[in-house]
Amino acid sequence: MRFEGDVALVTGAAGGIGAATCARLAAEGARVAVCDIDGAAAAAVAADLGALALELDVRSDESVAAAVAAAEAELGPVTVAVNNAGIAGELFFGQTPPERWDELIAVNLRGVLAVSHVLVGGMRERGRGAIVNVASEAGRVGSQLSVVYSATKAGVIGFTKALARENARHGVRVNAVAPGPVDTAMVRSAGALGEIGERLVAGMVDSTAMRRLGEPDEVAAAIAWLASGEASYVTGETVGVSGGLGMM
Ligand SMILES: NC(=O)c1ccc[n+]([C@@H]2O[C@H](COP(=O)([O-])OP(=O)(O)OC[C@H]3O[C@@H](n4cnc5c(N)ncnc54)[C@H](O)[C@@H]3O)[C@@H](O)[C@H]2O)c1
Repeated sequence: MRFEGDVALVTGAAGGIGAATCARLAAEGARVAVCDIDGAAAAAVAADLGALALELDVRSDESVAAAVAAAEAELGPVTVAVNNAGIAGELFFGQTPPERWDELIAVNLRGVLAVSHVLVGGMRERGRGAIVNVASEAGRVGSQLSVVYSATKAGVIGFTKALARENARHGVRVNAVAPGPVDTAMVRSAGALGEIGERLVAGMVDSTAMRRLGEPDEVAAAIAWLASGEASYVTGETVGVSGGLGMM
């Protein structure tokens, strides 16, 4: 029960890695706010866990402020934040229009900033908080057909380090995980693109030393560790959870 007394807010929590993270945190005693742009799917996840569901679009500062206010009114001050919401989906960089860059940056990078910005002040004041950002190995090694995605995830890693430095002496730890290919809707939607999609997924599997996709709970386990008191001397780190893809 590593999270007894904790209030956890997880974004992009309606499925995949986010839902698995909510399940772990709730099972270990946290009161959890399951936040997602898909409010109905968040409600289904929350109902199974006895958690709070909130509709949250990380692209909107108003939506972020409202969701955090609702979570804190219902559950108490947030002590654990997991910035997990993310999108993928690109062609080769030369074929990816600027509107798509903006969308990827808005969700994957600016969304992480927006949620952290609302929460970090209170965590500092209370001298207690853990933020875990879900980056990607793509942000460390670069991933073809995911050039802008890779840039956003590299940005998340840089943000994680800098925010960790600013807050380490105030009781707030900030870390990231860098998943490799994980069996979620994100990867399955790439596989659904027909032959090129199948080759893409096969290439992802081949890029791991273990030659397999990860399971959402294998990433959730690392997120939970980083968020817990067991990682009390760990901050600013990016932990690869990628079957040996990165080995940083
Ligand atoms: N699956 C992988 O192979 C993989 C690898 C590396 C990193 N990641 C990262 O893991 C995280 C979770 O992805 P996943 O694989 O579980 O995929 P997923 O598609 O199952 O989950 C992403 C969730 O984010 C939500 N979301 C999208 N836009 C949002 C917004 N504007 N506001 C709030 N929520 C929003 C979606 O509704 C969805 O529930 C993402 O940040 C992704 O980049 C995934």
